[in-house]
Amino acid sequence: MSVTVRVPAKVNVQLAVGPARPDGYHDLANVFLAVGLYDEVTVTPADDLRVTCEGPDAGQVPLDRTNLAARAAEALAARYGRSPAVHLHIAKDIPVAGGMAGGSADGAGALLACDTLWGTGASREELLDICAELGSDVPFSLVGGAALGTGRGEQLQPLEVGGTFHWVFAMAGRGLSTPAVFREFDRLGEGTGIPAPVASRDLLDALAKGDPDALAATVSNDLQPAALSLFPELADTLAAGRAAGALTALVSGSGPTTAFLARDAQSAATVAQALAASGTCRAVRTATGPAPGATVVHVAHA
Ligand code: C5P
Repeated sequence: MSVTVRVPAKVNVQLAVGPARPDGYHDLANVFLAVGLYDEVTVTPADDLRVTCEGPDAGQVPLDRTNLAARAAEALAARYGRSPAVHLHIAKDIPVAGGMAGGSADGAGALLACDTLWGTGASREELLDICAELGSDVPFSLVGGAALGTGRGEQLQPLEVGGTFHWVFAMAGRGLSTPAVFREFDRLGEGTGIPAPVASRDLLDALAKGDPDALAATVSNDLQPAALSLFPELADTLAAGRAAGALTALVSGSGPTTAFLARDAQSAATVAQALAASGTCRAVRTATGPAPGATVVHVAHA
Protein backbone atom coordinates (compact mmCIF):
# COMPACT_ATOMS: atom_id res chain seq x y z
CA MET A 1 0.00 0.00 0.00
CA SER A 2 1.15 3.56 -0.58
CA VAL A 3 -0.40 6.91 0.36
CA THR A 4 0.26 10.26 -1.35
CA VAL A 5 -0.51 13.56 0.35
CA ARG A 6 -0.44 16.97 -1.34
CA VAL A 7 0.56 19.98 0.80
CA PRO A 8 0.52 23.69 -0.11
CA ALA A 9 3.13 26.44 0.30
CA LYS A 10 2.28 29.57 2.28
CA VAL A 11 2.83 33.28 2.11
CA ASN A 12 2.60 35.45 5.22
CA VAL A 13 0.38 38.43 4.45
CA GLN A 14 1.20 39.81 7.89
CA LEU A 15 4.19 38.80 9.96
CA ALA A 16 4.34 40.90 13.13
CA VAL A 17 7.30 39.89 15.28
CA GLY A 18 7.85 40.70 18.96
CA PRO A 19 11.15 40.74 20.86
CA ALA A 20 13.14 37.54 21.44
CA ARG A 21 11.69 35.45 24.28
CA PRO A 22 13.80 33.72 26.94
CA ASP A 23 13.43 30.45 24.96
CA GLY A 24 14.91 32.10 21.84
CA TYR A 25 11.65 32.15 19.91
CA HIS A 26 9.72 35.32 19.08
CA ASP A 27 6.03 35.93 19.72
CA LEU A 28 4.24 36.42 16.43
CA ALA A 29 1.01 37.61 14.92
CA ASN A 30 1.35 35.60 11.77
CA VAL A 31 -1.37 35.73 9.11
CA PHE A 32 -0.81 32.71 6.88
CA LEU A 33 -2.36 32.26 3.44
CA ALA A 34 -1.88 28.89 1.76
CA VAL A 35 -1.12 29.16 -1.97
CA GLY A 36 -1.32 26.66 -4.79
CA LEU A 37 2.28 25.53 -5.04
CA TYR A 38 2.51 22.00 -3.72
CA ASP A 39 4.85 19.30 -2.50
CA GLU A 40 3.62 15.71 -2.62
CA VAL A 41 4.75 13.18 -0.03
CA THR A 42 4.29 9.47 -0.79
CA VAL A 43 4.79 6.90 1.93
CA THR A 44 5.26 3.14 1.41
CA PRO A 45 6.23 0.43 3.90
CA ALA A 46 9.98 -0.33 3.84
CA ASP A 47 12.68 -2.17 5.83
CA ASP A 48 13.97 1.05 7.33
CA LEU A 49 13.08 4.76 7.49
CA ARG A 50 14.32 6.33 4.27
CA VAL A 51 13.74 9.68 2.49
CA THR A 52 14.12 10.42 -1.22
CA CYS A 53 13.34 13.61 -3.10
CA GLU A 54 12.76 14.64 -6.70
CA GLY A 55 12.37 18.09 -8.25
CA PRO A 56 14.57 20.97 -9.44
CA ASP A 57 15.76 21.80 -5.88
CA ALA A 58 16.02 18.17 -4.73
CA GLY A 59 19.80 18.40 -4.29
CA GLN A 60 19.36 20.91 -1.44
CA VAL A 61 16.97 18.73 0.57
CA PRO A 62 18.53 16.81 3.49
CA LEU A 63 17.67 13.09 3.21
CA ASP A 64 18.74 12.17 6.75
CA ARG A 65 16.76 12.15 10.01
CA THR A 66 16.83 15.96 10.16
CA ASN A 67 14.27 16.06 7.31
CA LEU A 68 10.94 17.13 8.82
CA ALA A 69 9.18 14.32 6.92
CA ALA A 70 11.40 11.74 8.65
CA ARG A 71 10.90 13.44 12.01
CA ALA A 72 7.12 13.42 11.49
CA ALA A 73 7.12 9.66 10.77
CA GLU A 74 9.29 9.05 13.85
CA ALA A 75 7.08 11.20 16.08
CA LEU A 76 3.84 9.49 15.03
CA ALA A 77 5.41 6.01 15.26
CA ALA A 78 6.77 6.76 18.76
CA ARG A 79 3.35 7.93 19.93
CA TYR A 80 1.69 4.72 18.70
CA GLY A 81 4.51 2.36 19.78
CA ARG A 82 5.33 1.17 16.30
CA SER A 83 8.33 1.18 13.97
CA PRO A 84 8.75 4.13 11.58
CA ALA A 85 9.97 1.77 8.84
CA VAL A 86 8.71 3.59 5.75
CA HIS A 87 10.02 5.06 2.53
CA LEU A 88 9.05 8.72 2.26
CA HIS A 89 9.32 10.15 -1.24
CA ILE A 90 8.99 13.91 -1.66
CA ALA A 91 8.06 15.39 -5.05
CA LYS A 92 9.25 18.92 -4.36
CA ASP A 93 7.80 21.97 -6.07
CA ILE A 94 7.97 24.44 -3.14
CA PRO A 95 11.28 26.36 -3.08
CA VAL A 96 13.82 25.04 -0.56
CA ALA A 97 14.83 27.46 2.26
CA GLY A 98 12.56 29.98 0.53
CA GLY A 99 10.27 31.30 3.29
CA MET A 100 7.28 29.40 1.88
CA ALA A 101 7.18 26.58 4.48
CA GLY A 102 8.43 23.89 2.10
CA GLY A 103 10.06 21.87 4.88
CA SER A 104 6.99 22.31 7.07
CA ALA A 105 4.79 21.11 4.19
CA ASP A 106 6.82 17.89 3.99
CA GLY A 107 6.48 17.38 7.76
CA ALA A 108 2.69 17.83 7.70
CA GLY A 109 2.41 15.71 4.53
CA ALA A 110 4.44 12.83 5.96
CA LEU A 111 2.42 12.94 9.17
CA LEU A 112 -0.94 12.68 7.38
CA ALA A 113 0.42 10.06 4.96
CA CYS A 114 1.78 7.85 7.76
CA ASP A 115 -1.40 8.29 9.77
CA THR A 116 -3.40 7.06 6.77
CA LEU A 117 -0.98 4.22 5.94
CA TRP A 118 -0.88 2.94 9.52
CA GLY A 119 -4.55 3.57 10.27
CA THR A 120 -3.59 5.09 13.60
CA GLY A 121 -6.84 7.06 13.76
CA ALA A 122 -5.14 9.98 15.49
CA SER A 123 -7.46 12.92 16.16
CA ARG A 124 -6.99 16.24 14.43
CA GLU A 125 -5.85 17.72 17.77
CA GLU A 126 -3.22 14.99 18.20
CA LEU A 127 -1.91 15.57 14.68
CA LEU A 128 -1.77 19.33 15.32
CA ASP A 129 0.15 18.71 18.59
CA ILE A 130 2.74 16.65 16.74
CA CYS A 131 2.94 19.33 14.02
CA ALA A 132 3.62 22.01 16.65
CA GLU A 133 6.45 19.88 18.10
CA LEU A 134 7.98 19.58 14.62
CA GLY A 135 8.05 23.34 13.90
CA SER A 136 6.18 26.62 14.24
CA ASP A 137 4.77 26.60 10.68
CA VAL A 138 3.91 22.88 10.46
CA PRO A 139 0.37 23.11 11.96
CA PHE A 140 -0.61 25.62 9.28
CA SER A 141 0.67 23.32 6.52
CA LEU A 142 -1.76 20.68 7.79
CA VAL A 143 -4.71 23.09 8.02
CA GLY A 144 -4.21 25.33 4.94
CA GLY A 145 -6.69 28.02 3.88
CA ALA A 146 -5.92 31.14 5.89
CA ALA A 147 -5.21 31.38 9.59
CA LEU A 148 -3.84 33.65 12.27
CA GLY A 149 -0.92 32.04 14.09
CA THR A 150 -0.01 33.35 17.54
CA GLY A 151 2.48 32.21 20.15
CA ARG A 152 5.48 31.22 18.04
CA GLY A 153 3.02 30.86 15.14
CA GLU A 154 1.72 27.41 16.01
CA GLN A 155 -1.54 28.39 17.76
CA LEU A 156 -3.98 28.71 14.89
CA GLN A 157 -7.28 30.46 14.44
CA PRO A 158 -8.91 29.89 11.02
CA LEU A 159 -9.70 33.03 9.01
CA GLU A 160 -12.45 33.74 6.54
CA VAL A 161 -11.35 34.58 2.98
CA GLY A 162 -13.92 36.09 0.64
CA GLY A 163 -12.23 35.55 -2.71
CA THR A 164 -9.22 34.29 -4.63
CA PHE A 165 -5.97 36.25 -4.51
CA HIS A 166 -3.54 36.14 -7.43
CA TRP A 167 0.14 35.97 -6.54
CA VAL A 168 3.46 35.89 -8.32
CA PHE A 169 6.49 34.41 -6.56
CA ALA A 170 10.10 35.11 -7.51
CA MET A 171 12.56 32.43 -6.37
CA ALA A 172 16.03 33.63 -5.42
CA GLY A 173 19.36 32.17 -6.46
CA ARG A 174 20.14 31.00 -2.93
CA GLY A 175 18.25 30.22 0.31
CA LEU A 176 18.08 31.99 3.66
CA SER A 177 18.08 30.18 7.00
CA THR A 178 15.08 31.10 9.15
CA PRO A 179 17.08 31.17 12.43
CA ALA A 180 19.67 33.42 10.74
CA VAL A 181 16.95 35.88 9.67
CA PHE A 182 15.49 35.97 13.20
CA ARG A 183 19.04 36.54 14.59
CA GLU A 184 19.49 39.42 12.15
CA PHE A 185 16.10 40.80 13.27
CA ASP A 186 17.48 40.79 16.86
CA ARG A 187 20.86 42.24 15.82
CA LEU A 188 19.16 45.13 14.00
CA GLY A 189 17.17 45.83 17.18
CA GLU A 190 13.93 45.47 15.21
CA GLY A 191 12.14 43.92 18.21
CA THR A 192 13.41 46.38 20.80
CA GLY A 193 10.78 48.27 22.74
CA ILE A 194 7.88 47.23 20.52
CA PRO A 195 4.45 46.22 21.84
CA ALA A 196 3.17 42.64 21.66
CA PRO A 197 2.41 41.73 18.02
CA VAL A 198 -1.24 41.87 17.00
CA ALA A 199 -3.06 41.11 13.75
CA SER A 200 -4.21 44.13 11.74
CA ARG A 201 -8.00 44.51 11.76
CA ASP A 202 -7.88 46.15 8.31
CA LEU A 203 -5.88 43.26 6.91
CA LEU A 204 -8.31 40.65 8.30
CA ASP A 205 -11.20 42.65 6.79
CA ALA A 206 -9.42 42.77 3.41
CA LEU A 207 -9.00 38.97 3.49
CA ALA A 208 -12.64 38.46 4.49
CA LYS A 209 -13.78 40.69 1.62
CA GLY A 210 -11.42 39.11 -0.90
CA ASP A 211 -10.33 42.63 -1.85
CA PRO A 212 -6.83 42.66 -3.40
CA ASP A 213 -6.39 46.47 -3.25
CA ALA A 214 -7.27 46.55 0.44
CA LEU A 215 -5.02 43.56 1.12
CA ALA A 216 -2.15 45.21 -0.78
CA ALA A 217 -2.54 48.33 1.37
CA THR A 218 -2.26 46.36 4.62
CA VAL A 219 0.32 43.56 4.10
CA SER A 220 3.43 43.76 6.26
CA ASN A 221 6.45 41.67 7.16
CA ASP A 222 8.58 42.63 10.16
CA LEU A 223 11.28 40.19 9.00
CA GLN A 224 11.71 42.02 5.69
CA PRO A 225 14.45 44.45 6.88
CA ALA A 226 16.42 41.50 8.29
CA ALA A 227 16.01 39.47 5.08
CA LEU A 228 17.06 42.47 2.98
CA SER A 229 20.05 43.09 5.25
CA LEU A 230 21.26 39.51 4.63
CA PHE A 231 20.24 39.53 0.94
CA PRO A 232 20.31 43.15 -0.36
CA GLU A 233 19.72 42.13 -4.01
CA LEU A 234 16.12 41.25 -3.08
CA ALA A 235 15.37 44.98 -3.20
CA ASP A 236 15.93 44.84 -7.00
CA THR A 237 13.44 41.97 -7.36
CA LEU A 238 10.84 43.83 -5.27
CA ALA A 239 11.33 46.96 -7.38
CA ALA A 240 11.03 45.01 -10.66
CA GLY A 241 7.70 43.51 -9.60
CA ARG A 242 6.34 46.86 -8.43
CA ALA A 243 7.38 48.49 -11.70
CA ALA A 244 5.55 45.74 -13.61
CA GLY A 245 2.25 46.61 -11.93
CA ALA A 246 2.10 44.45 -8.80
CA LEU A 247 -0.28 45.93 -6.21
CA THR A 248 2.34 45.25 -3.57
CA ALA A 249 5.63 43.42 -3.18
CA LEU A 250 7.03 41.80 -0.06
CA VAL A 251 9.43 39.17 1.18
CA SER A 252 7.62 35.89 1.92
CA GLY A 253 8.17 34.96 5.58
CA SER A 254 11.89 34.83 6.34
CA GLY A 255 12.61 34.90 2.59
CA PRO A 256 14.29 35.00 0.23
CA THR A 257 11.29 34.25 -2.01
CA THR A 258 9.56 37.52 -2.88
CA ALA A 259 5.77 37.70 -3.26
CA PHE A 260 3.76 40.02 -5.52
CA LEU A 261 0.03 40.51 -5.24
CA ALA A 262 -1.77 41.14 -8.53
CA ARG A 263 -5.31 42.37 -9.15
CA ASP A 264 -6.27 39.42 -11.37
CA ALA A 265 -4.85 36.46 -13.29
CA GLN A 266 -3.99 38.56 -16.33
CA SER A 267 -2.06 41.11 -14.30
CA ALA A 268 -0.27 38.26 -12.48
CA ALA A 269 0.86 36.87 -15.85
CA THR A 270 2.19 40.31 -16.86
CA VAL A 271 4.09 40.72 -13.59
CA ALA A 272 5.47 37.18 -13.88
CA GLN A 273 6.71 37.81 -17.40
CA ALA A 274 8.40 41.08 -16.40
CA LEU A 275 10.07 39.48 -13.39
CA ALA A 276 11.36 36.59 -15.50
CA ALA A 277 12.82 39.09 -17.98
CA SER A 278 14.31 41.30 -15.23
CA GLY A 279 17.23 39.03 -14.46
CA THR A 280 16.70 39.66 -10.73
CA CYS A 281 15.58 36.13 -9.78
CA ARG A 282 16.14 32.44 -10.56
CA ALA A 283 12.56 31.43 -11.39
CA VAL A 284 9.05 32.84 -11.33
CA ARG A 285 5.74 31.14 -10.53
CA THR A 286 2.14 32.26 -10.30
CA ALA A 287 -0.26 30.76 -7.75
CA THR A 288 -3.59 31.59 -6.17
CA GLY A 289 -4.64 31.51 -2.54
CA PRO A 290 -6.25 30.33 -0.40
CA ALA A 291 -5.38 26.68 -1.12
CA PRO A 292 -6.50 23.61 0.85
CA GLY A 293 -4.23 22.14 3.54
CA ALA A 294 -2.61 18.69 3.50
CA THR A 295 -4.89 16.33 1.54
CA VAL A 296 -4.67 12.63 0.74
CA VAL A 297 -4.73 12.57 -3.08
CA HIS A 298 -3.89 8.92 -3.79
CA VAL A 299 -4.02 5.58 -2.02
CA ALA A 300 -2.61 2.57 -3.90
CA HIS A 301 -3.17 -0.97 -2.65
CA ALA A 302 -0.26 -3.14 -3.80
O1 C5P B 1 9.79 26.44 14.89
P1 C5P B 1 10.87 26.28 13.87
O2 C5P B 1 11.77 25.11 14.17
O3 C5P B 1 10.38 26.26 12.48
O4 C5P B 1 11.75 27.59 14.01
C1 C5P B 1 13.00 27.68 13.37
C2 C5P B 1 13.79 28.81 14.02
O5 C5P B 1 13.20 30.07 13.68
C3 C5P B 1 13.83 28.78 15.53
O6 C5P B 1 14.88 27.99 16.01
C4 C5P B 1 14.05 30.26 15.86
O7 C5P B 1 15.40 30.60 15.66
C5 C5P B 1 13.25 30.96 14.76
N1 C5P B 1 11.87 31.30 15.19
C6 C5P B 1 11.68 32.32 16.10
N2 C5P B 1 10.41 32.65 16.48
C7 C5P B 1 9.34 32.00 15.98
C8 C5P B 1 9.51 30.97 15.04
C9 C5P B 1 10.80 30.63 14.67
O8 C5P B 1 12.64 32.93 16.56
N3 C5P B 1 8.13 32.36 16.37
